[in-house]
Amino acid sequence: SAMRQPQNEGLLSYGPGSPEKAELKKKLQELQKREIEIPLIIGGKEVRTGKMGECIIPHKKDHILAKYHMAGEKEITMAIEAAHQAKDEWERMPWEHRASVFLRAAELLSGPWRSTLNAATMLGQSKTAHQAEIDSACELIDFLRFNAYYLSQIIEEQPNSTQDSWNRLQYRPLEGFVFAVTPFNFTAIGGNLPTAPAIVGNTVVWKPASTAVYSNYFVMKLLQEAGLPDGVINFVPGSGSKVGNMVLDDPALAGIHFTGSTQVFGDIWRKVAGNLRQYKAYPRIVGETGGKNFVLAHDSADVGALATGLVRGAFEYQGQKCSAASRAYIPQSIWPSVKERLLDDVASIKMGDVENFSNFMSAVIDGNAFRSIRSFIDYAQESPEAEILCGGQSDDREGYFIRPTVIVTTNPRFRTMEEEIFGPVLTVYVYPDQEFEKTVAQCTETSPYGLTGAVFARDRRVVCNLEKQLNHAASNFYINDKPTGAVVGQQPFGGSRASGTNDKAGSKLNLYRWINPRTIKENL
Ligand code: NAD
Ligand code: ALA
Repeated sequence: SAMRQPQNEGLLSYGPGSPEKAELKKKLQELQKREIEIPLIIGGKEVRTGKMGECIIPHKKDHILAKYHMAGEKEITMAIEAAHQAKDEWERMPWEHRASVFLRAAELLSGPWRSTLNAATMLGQSKTAHQAEIDSACELIDFLRFNAYYLSQIIEEQPNSTQDSWNRLQYRPLEGFVFAVTPFNFTAIGGNLPTAPAIVGNTVVWKPASTAVYSNYFVMKLLQEAGLPDGVINFVPGSGSKVGNMVLDDPALAGIHFTGSTQVFGDIWRKVAGNLRQYKAYPRIVGETGGKNFVLAHDSADVGALATGLVRGAFEYQGQKCSAASRAYIPQSIWPSVKERLLDDVASIKMGDVENFSNFMSAVIDGNAFRSIRSFIDYAQESPEAEILCGGQSDDREGYFIRPTVIVTTNPRFRTMEEEIFGPVLTVYVYPDQEFEKTVAQCTETSPYGLTGAVFARDRRVVCNLEKQLNHAASNFYINDKPTGAVVGQQPFGGSRASGTNDKAGSKLNLYRWINPRTIKENL
């Protein structure tokens, strides 16, 4: 029978003198003392290829945390084979027994594994303790628990029967295996993309992002400790295009659970389209991709709440949340006071090593990201249509640091108002108050994306209209709040348009995609 709805995992504060802070500090030191070697995990066994990649600390770039083995053709074939081998037994296992593995993993993560996974995320992905806690602890625990709960509800949904015929719906997993391809920016997404299809009875080949192999490896170890049977999830780090191309060519590919850039997702669709005739079934394609998330303010907005929303939305985790605020529309009449607040808040932002718990920001993920973000700032610096209000400095001597940057533009279609930058850069277009309606239309029409967006207004009539007018601009829509920080079970997360297939992560809608239902009618 259906489970009780889980409570969201409570957030630990890591305040001065707290036991969780002491424990986390200890773990951070421990992990940095020793470089580890990360194998592939295929059919439950460690596999080594000798072709190595490196996991570094982005804020201390010369520190190597681990060297990891990268999959070659042989290992990719082995991983697909292992997923086949494990499928039958896993699929037949009563759903409660599958769910138990993931509930046990949540329990371990809530307790003894919490500091390990948080420390690994802090070091490998340069997250502050708070950002790691909401990601690799709370959100991942919630994904694991809520997916089990939603599955328990789905299983109970049955069609009508009559006196003389009994109709049944069987919730079968897909025929074949699922390919999970995960991004660097959330350890929780790394954990959710392979486990959501698996809880339904699918087996999975999981390719983590190269820049998140470190924390993602600990997720895999946690799942194994929780009792995940061999071969149900196969951990295969390697080159995205190499692993991707080979896996996508396999005739038994039954589903893809992807989060990453719009460009790579497009490549995946094209590859799948070219292969359609050779697959056994149309692969289910579920993907969350890029965005250009907005904050739109009306002149009735609360200036303090707006400024806080902008700073937290744009700069937490260095602007590398897919949900991060990246373009803002602010009316001229309130701009002077918003600007003052922004300048004050941004000037007080401390950035540096994540081991100093008072830092609000740290480094961006790697040299490629650093150079790409830098090029957007340089472009704005040189353009007559923009000015750098604050920030703009960067320093990659020790780590990939970029100061939180606010660009102000006179052109609502300025390049940094339209392209995803994926870094700590917010562009503000200050609009004439009388052009409010035109600006609302621009907000929707100038972007192909539809991930997150926030509106700030105290006038109820305006809020009501904005909700309607911005119907397709954001599939996670916030009113008087920052556009980041969705909580599982509270704000199901996902984007539409060029931002993804919008099969909300950590919800029933997502789990349905991994099910291949069979209707059975039996005459009585
Ligand atoms: P990315 O697209 O560079 O990489 C994502 C994954 O795809 C990685 O594992 C990568 O190795 C793999 N990959 C690369 N080429 C491939 C190929 N040809 N075939 C198969 N796999 C391939 O993205 P990233 O830099 O890790 O993450 C940042 C991006 O992710 C941003 O665009 C961000 O908006 C997006 N994102 C979206 C959401 C969301 O929920 N919408 C959440 C997090 C991140
Ligand atoms: N769930 C993450 C957020 O909303 C992506 O910020």
